[in-house]
Amino acid sequence: MCGIIAYIGEGNAVPVLIKGLKKLEYRGYDSAGICVVENKRLITVKRKGRIEHLEKHPGLKNINSSLGISHTRWATHGEPSEINAHPHLDCKGEIAIVHNGIIENHNSLKKLLEKEGHKIVSDTDSEVIAHLIEKFYSSSLENAVAEALKLIEGAYGLAVIQKDENKIVAARKGSPLILGIGKNEMLVASDIPAVLQYTRKVIYLNDNEIAVLTNNSYSVMKINGEKANKKIHKIKWSIEETEKKGFRHFMLKEIFEQPDSVKNLLRGRMKNNKIKLTLDMDVKKIKRIIITACGTSWHSALIGKHIIEDLTRIPVYVDYASELRYRNPVIKKGDVLIVISQSGETADTLAALKEIKSKKCKCIGIVNVVGSTIAREVDSGIYLHAGPEMGVASTKAFSSQVLALLLFALWIRQEKGYKIDDDLVRELKKIPEKINIIVKKSDRLRELAEKFKNSTNFLYLGRGINFPVALEGALKLKEISYIHAEGYPAAEMKHGPIALIDRNMPVVFLATKNNLSDKILSNMQEVKARKGRIIAVANEKNKEIEKLADYIIIVPETLNILSPILNIIPLQLLAYHIADLKGLNVDKPRNLAKSVTVE
Ligand code: G6P
Repeated sequence: MCGIIAYIGEGNAVPVLIKGLKKLEYRGYDSAGICVVENKRLITVKRKGRIEHLEKHPGLKNINSSLGISHTRWATHGEPSEINAHPHLDCKGEIAIVHNGIIENHNSLKKLLEKEGHKIVSDTDSEVIAHLIEKFYSSSLENAVAEALKLIEGAYGLAVIQKDENKIVAARKGSPLILGIGKNEMLVASDIPAVLQYTRKVIYLNDNEIAVLTNNSYSVMKINGEKANKKIHKIKWSIEETEKKGFRHFMLKEIFEQPDSVKNLLRGRMKNNKIKLTLDMDVKKIKRIIITACGTSWHSALIGKHIIEDLTRIPVYVDYASELRYRNPVIKKGDVLIVISQSGETADTLAALKEIKSKKCKCIGIVNVVGSTIAREVDSGIYLHAGPEMGVASTKAFSSQVLALLLFALWIRQEKGYKIDDDLVRELKKIPEKINIIVKKSDRLRELAEKFKNSTNFLYLGRGINFPVALEGALKLKEISYIHAEGYPAAEMKHGPIALIDRNMPVVFLATKNNLSDKILSNMQEVKARKGRIIAVANEKNKEIEKLADYIIIVPETLNILSPILNIIPLQLLAYHIADLKGLNVDKPRNLAKSVTVE
């Protein structure tokens, strides 16, 4: 999982590539490199570490080139190092490639190439691609790339240059790649933010397509040589939307954006108690719903199960995509699959989708990134319209996913002829304002974070629809603060985790009002009796909670079915402030990447 940006045009390639790489750093950031053509020579500069480090490399000064490729890496094969960083070159130093994905048969290709005299210098799976292209190269780069790709098994987003040819050849299978169509300049990138400064016109490459770009032309063909007719899409996001807007971190900005992102999700989809979704299915035939996802999206799936079962009485099964894809699951007539993914590119989620789709099941996507692979693979779907999410820890996508699942459940009710509850609609409309009330408590949560930033463990406990919120709260904390945290159903605590509780253990309780409130209070008693330190997310400071909790975070009251959308906000803020106070890199935590496009 890496980021690619390539440029050809009238401008100077190096600053364009560096800026583009910075926009793609969320995809991986353990090493980076650039290769440009200058006077029919390839100049390659690589560095271990962040883009800033590469930018300062003396080798990049005074380069005047209008053609280049670059890459920011998240290691899969071979440790992060200069030699393993991309671009990778052929033996003669005439062809350079950048690659995102995994070449599954790289070992056998390496053996074959070495037998033929190629010298492979890195530990990566990617380098074989440069040598394979060299093997097939005579006078046309695109032909050599096409020949090479025929031997490659696995996933790739690829950009290639050759010292004498004034063009970029790009190819895709399984890893995202877009073309940016500018005026006398063209770009290739893993994601849209990298090209937005230069153009809003993009083309999404599909699997098994090869593109050839010059200063002022592009053509796309399929790997079998047929021409591919491509549509140009106009991107509406502003550059501003992909930047921090004065917040210290993308994550904080994205937490604060939630009143707007949930409004954007509802926009045009709920009018006069009517839900408007364009989903390709006959609801009367649905017998069972399977939801699959990874990470935070999997947590929203768990909440979706509560919501959909409650509102539609259709049974819902939730599965990790990485498990579902290999289990040969039983799919029956009447089953519907929902795939949830912020990025729309997560490899396991995509594979699970393909597996289930091959069993002739209807597939719906709940996706944020428009035009992403999952969005294009599903039969129909609901876009979140949450805007780009850059912080590695997902925040605004989560609240929007939960809301999208709620809209989906309401839509099923409506299609089955039931009226939609007025109270629910009224409360739904108030959600953005209620989120606003919570984000304004950010300073108060920072004070709380100050008290707990040195804790080494945390427990998060919730029940019913708020159990997945406990899981998500714990995930947020561990992702960015590196503090060990576990989410648990509150009543399960006595079957194990209670043994951990002592005066050093902070326990976050989701204690907002619902039919299980009394039970949650008993669970709090159990923690209190063992001297655990309780932080309660509650709707009011009533006497009982005050007696038990050391700290209370008040969130506005809402319907239980909507409570996860509000309850998660203080937990996002708590995790954010703890990580920030510890001086950690909140937006780019160690070992993680925003979009996991490898298995
Ligand atoms: C990565 C990210 C998580 C995200 C997960 C699933 O692990 O760091 O924040 O929840 O991938 O991503 P998706 O884009 O499919 O929702």
